[in-house]
Amino acid sequence: MKILLAGGAGYIGSHTAVALLDAGYDVVVVDNYCNSSPEAVKRVEELTGKNVVVYAADVKDKAAMQQIFAENKIDCVIHFAGLKAVGESVQKPIAYYRNNIDTTLTLLEVMAESGCHNIVFSSSATVYGEKNAAPYMETMERGTCSNPYGWTKSMMEQILQDATVADKDLSVVLLRYFNPIGAHESGMIGEDPQGIPNNLMPYIAQVAVGRRDKLTIFGNDYPTPDGTCRRDYIHVMDLADGHVKAVDFAVKNKGTEIFNLGTGTPYSVLDIVNAFEKSNNIKVNYEFGPRRAGDLPEFWANSDKAHEILGWVAKHDLEDMCRDTWNWQSKNPQGYKK
Ligand code: NAD
Ligand code: UD1
Repeated sequence: MKILLAGGAGYIGSHTAVALLDAGYDVVVVDNYCNSSPEAVKRVEELTGKNVVVYAADVKDKAAMQQIFAENKIDCVIHFAGLKAVGESVQKPIAYYRNNIDTTLTLLEVMAESGCHNIVFSSSATVYGEKNAAPYMETMERGTCSNPYGWTKSMMEQILQDATVADKDLSVVLLRYFNPIGAHESGMIGEDPQGIPNNLMPYIAQVAVGRRDKLTIFGNDYPTPDGTCRRDYIHVMDLADGHVKAVDFAVKNKGTEIFNLGTGTPYSVLDIVNAFEKSNNIKVNYEFGPRRAGDLPEFWANSDKAHEILGWVAKHDLEDMCRDTWNWQSKNPQGYKK
């Protein structure tokens, strides 16, 4: 089976490519490298000993996508191609709506023209909004998002769901990721954010490797056990495995199905710092700062549905996540840059 990874050179896409290739699938990647490097796909090939067909193109470019589908018989698409920086989305909402919505529409149009009926979509826990209480369940209504990035995810879920109502052959799997961290255990691929990291774990890793002075912990006065926010961190290779299972499900079913992918165990920011220091025997300088606008005190997943229907469980613990992050960052202090 041939799987098209739109945005496959990015953090989650590259790890999913490894999992798919290891499981015997053929992989085609299309990426415009707006937030990634061609080196990531080269490393995927090196790691797996398999070839990846790669196209440098924008997923919004319909003619380019038509050519990719004409040259490859695609059985299933995984749509990772999106802009994802929450703060930037507040500054540049139009760019976020244009890129994220347009990539989705273009994929759906070209899939329909080419007879490809299966798509797995990178959604986010952010669609649960501010009012739902943890643990989040797929049966809950989508909520009010606090930023344009979140709204693009919520809108794209709606677009994809609507498409399955109109096209009875279409199969859509919406994967709601919680907080992916970690790296492939080889340390050859990992998360390589451009500029100052927005997310916690890459910031910690860059402090540990000496690229940044210290971590600022955003708030220690939340109503949580230690006053810092709690999240559901999930190892990126567990997430990748969830995609392999989602592809298997998508090709055998029709309509829309939603799955949370999280471990169900919340950890605080201080838990993460302490676990990183202990697992890697390295000090992480930090200070407490004010709360970050839009942060929720805590949320985590109920992933029973993914377990029951996909047969998926998260196998890596927090120590694995911290060790594999550091293995990648210490071997690649500047990320994919030589
Ligand atoms: P990433 O930025 O590393 O990967 C996204 C990839 O898409 C990049 O390689 C980028 O160059 C590419 N891309 C973006 N727009 C494109 C376009 N128009 N044409 C072609 N390529 C394009 O991000 P990631 O962490 O791997 O996330 C993958 C997906 O999962 C995103 O949609 C993101 O919103 C979603 N997601 C991520 C997280 C997370 O914490 N990383 C959490 C929830 C959801
Ligand atoms: C963020 C996004 C969310 C997105 C998710 C995964 C916001 C408001 N939400 O979630 O939409 O789906 O990333 O990409 O940005 N922290 C620090 N110091 C730092 C960085 C983070 O203390 O330098 C704290 C945050 O306050 C938070 C926790 O670490 O409590 C995790 O932060 P982050 O990795 O950004 O993820 P989320 O906030 O859960």
